Amino acid sequence: MADVSLRGVRKSYGSLEVVHGVDLEIASGEFVVFVGPSGCGKSTLLRMIAGLEPISGGDISIGGKVVNDIPSPERGIAMVFQSYALYPHMSVYDNMAFGLKLAKTPKAEVDQRVREAARILQIEDYLDRMPKALSGGQRQRVAIGRAIVRNPRVFLFDEPLSNLDASLRAQTRIEIAKLHDTLDATMIYVTHDQVEAMTLADRIVVLNAGNIEQVGTPLELYSNPVNTFVAGFIASQRMNFLPVSPSVNHLTLPGNRLLTLSTTNLETVRTLGVRPEHLELATDASTAHLSGILSVIEQFGEYALAYVELPDGQLVTIKLDGAPDLTLHDTVHITIPPGVVHLFDDAGRALR
Ligand SMILES: Nc1ncnc2c1ncn2[C@@H]1O[C@H](COP(=O)(O)OP(=O)(O)OP(=O)(O)O)[C@@H](O)[C@H]1O
Ligand SMILES: [Mg+2]
Repeated sequence: MADVSLRGVRKSYGSLEVVHGVDLEIASGEFVVFVGPSGCGKSTLLRMIAGLEPISGGDISIGGKVVNDIPSPERGIAMVFQSYALYPHMSVYDNMAFGLKLAKTPKAEVDQRVREAARILQIEDYLDRMPKALSGGQRQRVAIGRAIVRNPRVFLFDEPLSNLDASLRAQTRIEIAKLHDTLDATMIYVTHDQVEAMTLADRIVVLNAGNIEQVGTPLELYSNPVNTFVAGFIASQRMNFLPVSPSVNHLTLPGNRLLTLSTTNLETVRTLGVRPEHLELATDASTAHLSGILSVIEQFGEYALAYVELPDGQLVTIKLDGAPDLTLHDTVHITIPPGVVHLFDDAGRALR
């Protein structure tokens, strides 16, 4: 395992710059997850760390040593992709052993490493099978096994679970968490999946259009997003954003009711953010902060999401426990507990 350091890392394709000078320090043994919208540069960053893509500026260090000019096979990394492309004509064992054999590793050591990786991943019973005789989840474990046997200093994962169905994904996610615990290796993991990001990461890096928006622990990003982008990106249900007009000690909400806050410095607030799980139903209009028409309700079993249309047409999402007793097209009254709101200025920056 090794630390990874990015200093002013840039990437251009021709005249188009897609990564704009990224600074990031990843500690040895840390599990860091990259998230961000499609095209923001996650795979490009990972491929630059792997040495599969030359960098256009800055420095990348692994284990304290600048690797800008070091070819990929000598960087001590192993990468697992979404499409894992096993060799179809080789057994599971040979797929896992292939890279080591190429590197002329002694046979006994190859055998020991393959069997150890197979034990960790619980694929010992499949070592003689061909890839076509495996399920998608088993194949993905073989691909991870191929990475493990190389004993890399840094694991790089690019959406490794996105081809799996939901239950296999959950299962393999837990295996990856255990793997990190067992190997104590540095891992950098790209995903679109909020649950994977929140549960696997020591720290999450939120990327947007080739820049880092925020780096923090999952709970830091959930509780203290620095701007509306991060606030809207982190968590399973998107945060609600309401336009507000500020006064000294209160905000005027859509629908003209007031929300009184003890926060000073409200003058610059333009947007109020509140997560669906923090909104509450009010029994009547007199205590409500917002009122609207219930336009959709999605029932998930242990909770429901109610989408309430305000008079200005905006939809507000509320997460409610169990099966709430609500009727479609009825008026719904909502209260906003003051302790859970996020306040943003006209540039979308969080105000503290
Ligand atoms: N070979 C290339 N030539 C030109 N532009 C490229 C090339 N590879 C990637 N890009 C551009 O670089 C940007 C970043 O791409 P990248 O693949 O890193 O995105 P990503 O965050 O991994 O997206 P996704 O979530 O869809 O995988 C995109 O705008 C993409 O179009
Ligand atoms: Mg990608």
